[in-house]
Amino acid sequence: MAAERRSGGVSLFVLLYFASIGRAEAFSRKVTFMLNPGAPAPPPGGDLLHVRAEGHNDTLHFLFCSVGAPTLLLVHTNISSSTVSVNWTQFETQNSSGSLKVEPESSILYTGALVFTRLLEYDDVNNTAKVTPDLFPPYELQDISWSPLNLSDMKAQLCGAIANGSLCLQLSVFESEGRGQVWPRLFHSANSSQVEVSLDGVLPRAVQSRFFLELQAVGGNYPLSKVEVHRSIDDEFTPSIFKVAQWVSLENRSSDVLGFVQWKPVAYRRSPPTLEDATPCHHSDPQRQSGEAVSAASGLIRAFYVQPETFGLNVSFGLAGEQFYNNTKFLSWSVLMGFGPPPVDTFSPLVIAIIAVGLGTPMILLLLGGVCVCVRKRVSTSTTAYEPIN
Ligand SMILES: *[C@@H]1O[C@H](CO)[C@@H](O)[C@H](O)[C@H]1NC(C)=O
Ligand SMILES: *[C@@H]1O[C@H](CO)[C@@H](O)[C@H](O)[C@H]1NC(C)=O
Ligand SMILES: *[C@@H]1O[C@H](CO)[C@@H](O)[C@H](O)[C@H]1NC(C)=O
Ligand SMILES: *[C@@H]1O[C@H](CO)[C@@H](O)[C@H](O)[C@H]1NC(C)=O
Ligand SMILES: *[C@@H]1O[C@H](CO)[C@@H](O)[C@H](O)[C@H]1NC(C)=O
Ligand SMILES: *[C@@H]1O[C@H](CO)[C@@H](O)[C@H](O)[C@H]1NC(C)=O
Ligand SMILES: *[C@@H]1O[C@H](CO)[C@@H](O)[C@H](O)[C@H]1NC(C)=O
Ligand SMILES: *[C@@H]1O[C@H](CO)[C@@H](O)[C@H](O)[C@H]1NC(C)=O
Repeated sequence: MAAERRSGGVSLFVLLYFASIGRAEAFSRKVTFMLNPGAPAPPPGGDLLHVRAEGHNDTLHFLFCSVGAPTLLLVHTNISSSTVSVNWTQFETQNSSGSLKVEPESSILYTGALVFTRLLEYDDVNNTAKVTPDLFPPYELQDISWSPLNLSDMKAQLCGAIANGSLCLQLSVFESEGRGQVWPRLFHSANSSQVEVSLDGVLPRAVQSRFFLELQAVGGNYPLSKVEVHRSIDDEFTPSIFKVAQWVSLENRSSDVLGFVQWKPVAYRRSPPTLEDATPCHHSDPQRQSGEAVSAASGLIRAFYVQPETFGLNVSFGLAGEQFYNNTKFLSWSVLMGFGPPPVDTFSPLVIAIIAVGLGTPMILLLLGGVCVCVRKRVSTSTTAYEPIN
């Protein structure tokens, strides 16, 4: 019995040990931020942020730009000395691709971009949370005047004024793997970045208005063309949410995913997020879009891609019967973008411990029970054996 108890303890210890080893060996990158790299003066059309995330022998370049529709571009190179060069005169005149380059070009392994093109609004008269065909005129995000990028510790925030409120995008870049501080607490690696979109104080055009967002994923040879929804058995980090959506490329013949956009299907109607304010979100199927249209919308796409392969989708928020945007006048939604396989949510040491105890305790009880039964039997046989003599 003592041996069994010990082995239960040992397996728990081993599991916790492996969980902590995973953490200790996490891959990390050296991250540096540079606003408008090499620009002679603050560019009039909007800001360009270059975040360089250097690994041992590779570099991830994140470019976040507010010239036109907000765009996040990711370029992965297989050397640690690759650079970003911008021809500012060309970049500002905005009519030639090639004004932004990652050099040497031969080191580029993967490129992908996410463009936030439109904010749409509809009057949900029947409270079904289903997008109706008659929408209010959309807010074209390329036409919004974006405030200068606000940089803080590993973050950059971009805000634009919409209908007496604001639409903000907060980019976070990471040195190593970890998890966001607030819900949905997405699990990231050093190979991904996160964008939190929030819609604060916007005056709706109807009492029953709901909003949705249009996103475009741009890629070179491997555009993100399908969304996979995976289920999880653990909602520890995002209470009540057991799903994760991954927008990936179809052409992954070698089974490894080249790049991804990942989110949990949840938005929050208040800040900071709480469980009562969680609201589900839905995505439409990715549709092929015109490369020219996305180039026209985004200055960064125009500057970097010659023939952008693009797929777009809409993400809508809310549930039939649920309160409308006007109720809290706030909505936030988070999304990860990175290269390589999407991060997989792991069990936390706490959950592993609970599973270990959960599986270990019945074992011990069973064995204990077995031993007790044996002892009883032995005692009772000895008493019955005693009786005839008496
Ligand atoms: C890159 O570095 C990793 C370890 O840091 C090593 O395993 C890998 O072989 C290196 N790759 C190249 C192409 O040098
Ligand atoms: C675009 O570039 C071409 C040459 O590359 C130039 O002739 C033309 O004037 C430019 N157009 C604008 C609007 O800057
Ligand atoms: C980087 O990738 C390119 C293209 O895949 C390849 O030709 C080159 O040898 C690679 N360089 C290193 C240092 O791995
Ligand atoms: C709302 O419901 C009414 C009655 O069922 C229906 O006639 C109308 O078409 C619906 N409107 C929308 C936008 O679905
Ligand atoms: C919205 O903004 C406009 C102009 O900025 C202002 O006149 C109006 O009073 C504002 N509305 C509300 C409800 O704050
Ligand atoms: C991140 O990318 C580096 C370089 O390609 C790779 O060695 C590492 O395993 C990746 N980490 C994760 C968590 O995917
Ligand atoms: C939003 O709700 C407030 C009350 O909460 C109401 O006074 C106002 O008219 C509503 N605005 C719209 C546009 O529905
Ligand atoms: C998003 O929804 C709007 C309105 O239904 C539609 O016009 C647009 O094509 C959709 N965008 C994508 C990328 O599916």
